[in-house]
Amino acid sequence: MSARLETAWSIRRMRPRDVADVLAIETVSYAYPWSERIFHDCLRVGYRAWIIGAPGQPVGGYALATIAVGEAHLLNLCVAPAARGQRLGERLLDQLVSQARMEAAHTLMLEVRPSNTAARRLYDRYGFVHQGTRPNYYPGESEREDALLLSYKVAP
Ligand SMILES: CC(C)(COP(=O)(O)OP(=O)(O)OC[C@H]1O[C@@H](n2cnc3c(N)ncnc32)[C@H](O)[C@@H]1OP(=O)(O)O)[C@@H](O)C(=O)NCCC(=O)NCCS
Repeated sequence: MSARLETAWSIRRMRPRDVADVLAIETVSYAYPWSERIFHDCLRVGYRAWIIGAPGQPVGGYALATIAVGEAHLLNLCVAPAARGQRLGERLLDQLVSQARMEAAHTLMLEVRPSNTAARRLYDRYGFVHQGTRPNYYPGESEREDALLLSYKVAP
């Protein structure tokens, strides 16, 4: 009988000293990555930010969001390429949803590129619904790309 060792992922708050590891994942994950400064600014102004990590891989993924006036907004959700396909994105969404509930938010909003199949599968499975389109939202190679605006009902 063979035993498969499960990676023991856990979630904690992002700290400024995580930013170097976060940035390494960010730059290989997006064509238009956030800068180091954006991450530090998000932490400085108190945006909600988490890391999912495991022994041997302190930063496997991360999420950043705002929660204000009854609404949470996911700003960035990213999993290291080698750690994808293990539902870590879902674990980070669970963390955000539980924080949003604690802060009495009723809705979680996010934008996603129509071309981002992996993210759209995650959000569909999670129960997000399509609310509309933000035209020319994302930079692109020849022209800008629209964003799909999705929402998830946080309040029971
Ligand atoms: C989107 C993202 C966060 C999903 O994280 P994840 O933890 O891998 O999510 P899941 O395990 O639920 O997999 C989601 C989908 O990714 C795809 N996927 C599965 N394994 C994968 C792998 N090893 N590598 C790449 N994509 C994979 C599949 O389409 C999967 O959907 P399915 O299981 O219904 O077939 C991750 O792909 C990522 O960080 N992408 C780059 C950054 C990004 O686009 N963020 C979202 C911005 S809106």
